Amino acid sequence: MNPEMRTRIVAGNWKMNTTPEEGKKLVSEMIPMIDDEIRGAVHAILIPPILHLSGLMSLFSNRKQSLSWGAQDCSAHSKGAYTGEISAEMLLSVGVSYILVGHSERRAYHNETNTLCRDKILRIIEAGGCPIYCVGETLQEREEDRVTPVIEQQLNEGLPELLWEKSLPLIIAYEPVWAIGTGKTASPHQASEVHGLIRHWLKTHASDQIADSTSILYGGSVKAENAAELFNMPDVDGGLIGGASLQSRSFVEIVKACVR
Ligand code: 13P
Repeated sequence: MNPEMRTRIVAGNWKMNTTPEEGKKLVSEMIPMIDDEIRGAVHAILIPPILHLSGLMSLFSNRKQSLSWGAQDCSAHSKGAYTGEISAEMLLSVGVSYILVGHSERRAYHNETNTLCRDKILRIIEAGGCPIYCVGETLQEREEDRVTPVIEQQLNEGLPELLWEKSLPLIIAYEPVWAIGTGKTASPHQASEVHGLIRHWLKTHASDQIADSTSILYGGSVKAENAAELFNMPDVDGGLIGGASLQSRSFVEIVKACVR
């Protein structure tokens, strides 16, 4: 497949920011700025806190726009006595299409392992959604020259074969931990190198066709000023944006930078 054919995606991960009212204001500012040209070229996914999702979707989903909705996490279980958890099925039932799995903040602060991520991905698949699986190395791992084994282990242990057996949708996000929220972005070359490694892994473990059609996003201090040079690199199909997705103008500028 021609890489030009892969879906270009920019996803905004709001993390634990904004009240529902602030969230509504943010989306209502963004929508008019996303014109038809951008709509046709880039798929934008908003990933607000779970609490905001139903309200935002009922207000904005019927309008002419190309926003899809995502959640930041889901349970590794389908249902039952898991206080505080939200299942993939519940999220899909209110209109969520994408669910982040294995974000480095969940790995670091909630001890999420690759195996747990795999279980979550299986629940998302069962519910009919698309996982956005996050991988990335820490600064120490990079300094010790262990980027390749760390990323490969995250892919080997986190991604179930069912994805390839049934040709199910998947997005992968490469987010170097040292670049998240630090203002330190991976250089375009560093990002492209790891994206190439992930694409190669998909070729050898899934198929050429899956490798060629899977969108791989870069995340970690992406801003309006550096987005274009990252998104223009081979194998970089878009971005997963944290801080800069909390301001309508900067998020829309980043979406525009993703247009080929
Ligand atoms: P920042 O863009 O704030 O570095 O966050 C990246 C991220 O973690 C997106 O999931």
